[in-house]
Amino acid sequence: MCIALSSGFVLNSLLSGCKTPLGVIKTKSDNDVVTVPLTEFEKGDYKLVRVSNYDYDLAIQKKPDGTFDTLVLECTHAGQPVTKTGNTYYCTLHGSVFSHEGKVMKGPAERDLRKLASTVSKDVLTIKLR
Ligand code: FES
Repeated sequence: MCIALSSGFVLNSLLSGCKTPLGVIKTKSDNDVVTVPLTEFEKGDYKLVRVSNYDYDLAIQKKPDGTFDTLVLECTHAGQPVTKTGNTYYCTLHGSVFSHEGKVMKGPAERDLRKLASTVSKDVLTIKLR
């Protein structure tokens, strides 16, 4: 019984971990604008952002010069969300692969992942979704 209960506990912990992957920031946009506190980048230069009212996750990379690159994780072939796999992004629908910087490494996609404009002011990164 204890083994079953502890197995269930472990399973539940694992499942709840699956619901909220580590390092994912959850937020929502306001008038197609997303803001992320810069404190989120104190422990790492890369963050995934899940925007509740937007169809795709965002991948934000802080660059050495203090600016940020934001990729929309939408496959440019047919709009499937792409998944981070190691240091690349993979589309499960037809197999396109994109580099960490969003460049096409393998088709059928022909265009790089879309980058969004962002600005830094005070303690906040502001990203325009459109
Ligand atoms: S939608 Fe991604 S490869 Fe086709």
